[in-house]
Amino acid sequence: MNRLTTPWGELALTRFPEDPRDQLRAWDAADDYLLRHLADEGTDLSGSLVVLGDRWGALTTALAGHGPVQLTDSYLGRRATEANLARTGTDTSAVALRTVRDEPPDRIDVLLIRVPKSLALLEDQLHRLAPAIHPGTVVVGTGMVDEIHTSTLRLFERIVGPTRTSLAVRKARLIFCTPDPALPRSPSPWPLRYALPDGIGAMADRTVTNHAGVFCADRLDIGTRFFLGTLPAPRGPVDVIDLGCGNGVVGTAVAVASPGASVTFADESYSAVASARETYHDNVPDGAGRAAFVVGDGLAGLPDDSADLVLCNPPFHSHRATTDTTARRMFGDARRVLRPGGELWVVGNRHLGYHVRLRRIFGGCETVAGHPKFVVLRAVAPAPASPANRGPRTGTR
Ligand SMILES: C[S@@+](CC[C@H](N)C(=O)[O-])C[C@H]1O[C@@H](n2cnc3c(N)ncnc32)[C@H](O)[C@@H]1O
Repeated sequence: MNRLTTPWGELALTRFPEDPRDQLRAWDAADDYLLRHLADEGTDLSGSLVVLGDRWGALTTALAGHGPVQLTDSYLGRRATEANLARTGTDTSAVALRTVRDEPPDRIDVLLIRVPKSLALLEDQLHRLAPAIHPGTVVVGTGMVDEIHTSTLRLFERIVGPTRTSLAVRKARLIFCTPDPALPRSPSPWPLRYALPDGIGAMADRTVTNHAGVFCADRLDIGTRFFLGTLPAPRGPVDVIDLGCGNGVVGTAVAVASPGASVTFADESYSAVASARETYHDNVPDGAGRAAFVVGDGLAGLPDDSADLVLCNPPFHSHRATTDTTARRMFGDARRVLRPGGELWVVGNRHLGYHVRLRRIFGGCETVAGHPKFVVLRAVAPAPASPANRGPRTGTR
C-alpha cells in the first residue's frame, strides 16, 4: 500500500483489484500537484465540487470532506475509490460516486479533471458538463506531461473557455480554464454510429454504436476484424460470453449467426457496456430475452460452470504500461465459468505469447488462425478432476 501526503492528511491508497505483488501506485504526481495547488491557492471548495476521471480515487478521497461528486467510466476505479474512502477516517457520507453515463449535476462551482487517456471521453464529458458550468466555476485539469497535448488544450478552449497551463512539476502539469459563457454551445458528437465493412462474417455491413472512450472509437480495430472473420457459429441453445466486450461487436456477431445463443456482454467500462447494449439491440431486434449486460471486473460476478463459449480480445495496457495482468485474470475467470468442454477463444498480438498462459491455465491450447500480427487461440475447459486430485481452479499465475 502506498501513502500520499496531502494537505488534507496522509492517505493509504490502493488500486482495484488489490494485489500485494503489484508495485504500481494508486496516485501519481498529477494528483499530488492538483491537491497542493488547491490548498496553496485557498480554493473555495464549499460549493458543488465535481471530480472527473479520478483514476483510483486519490482526488475524491483527499477531498471527501468537501462532498465531491465523482464521475468515472471505470468500474475498477470506482471500486478502488470505495475501498480508499472506507480506509480514511473522514465522514464519506456526502461523497457521491456516479458514472459518466449518469445525469451530471445541475450546477458546478469547482470542476477538477484528471485528463483521461481518451480525448473522446474528455470531449464528451466537457460537452455534458458545460451547461452546469458558470462564469465563476473554477476549472482545473491535471495530467502527466505526456498525457496533455495541444489537442487536449484545444478541447478546453473550444468547449469551456480560454485555457493555459502551469509549469511542469515532477513531469505533471495543471490546466487552468476560464469559463466563457458566450461560447456557442454545441451537442456532443458522441456516441458515434458507424457501418462495418464487408467481408467480416456475420457483422458485415451492419452498424455499431460507440460511446466516447470505447475501443474501436470510429472504425474496427484490425485485431477485432481478424477475430470476427474466425468466430465459431455454435448451434442450439448455448451460453456465450463476450468478455471485455467494448462496443459488443464480437458477441453480437455470434448472436446474429447463432439464433439459439444467449450472450452476456461484460466490461469494466460503463460506456462500453452501454455501447454493447445498443449494438446488440440494433442488430438483434428480437433478442431482448437472450442477452445480459454486466459491468464488472472480468467475470467476477458470474457463476462457475455457466458458459459454453467465452470470446475475448483482452486489453494489454493498463493506463500507460503494457501488461498481460488483466488478460491472465480474464483467462482464469473464463476457466472458472466454462462448463467442461466449453471453449475460450482469444485474439491477441502474436508477440504477447498468450498461448503460454492458456496452456498453464487450461492444460492446452491450439491456434485457430494466424496473421502476421495476430493469432486466434482456442482453449478447452477440461472435465473436472476427481475430488482426490482436484487442484485450485483459479490458479492463474
Ligand atoms: C481490446 S478491447 C476489446 C473490445 C472488443 N471486444 C473488441 O474486440 O473490439 C478490451 C476491453 O476490455 C475491457 N476491460 C479492461 N479491463 C477489464 C476488466 N478488468 N474487466 C472487464 N473488462 C475489462 C476494456 O474496457 C475494453 O473494452
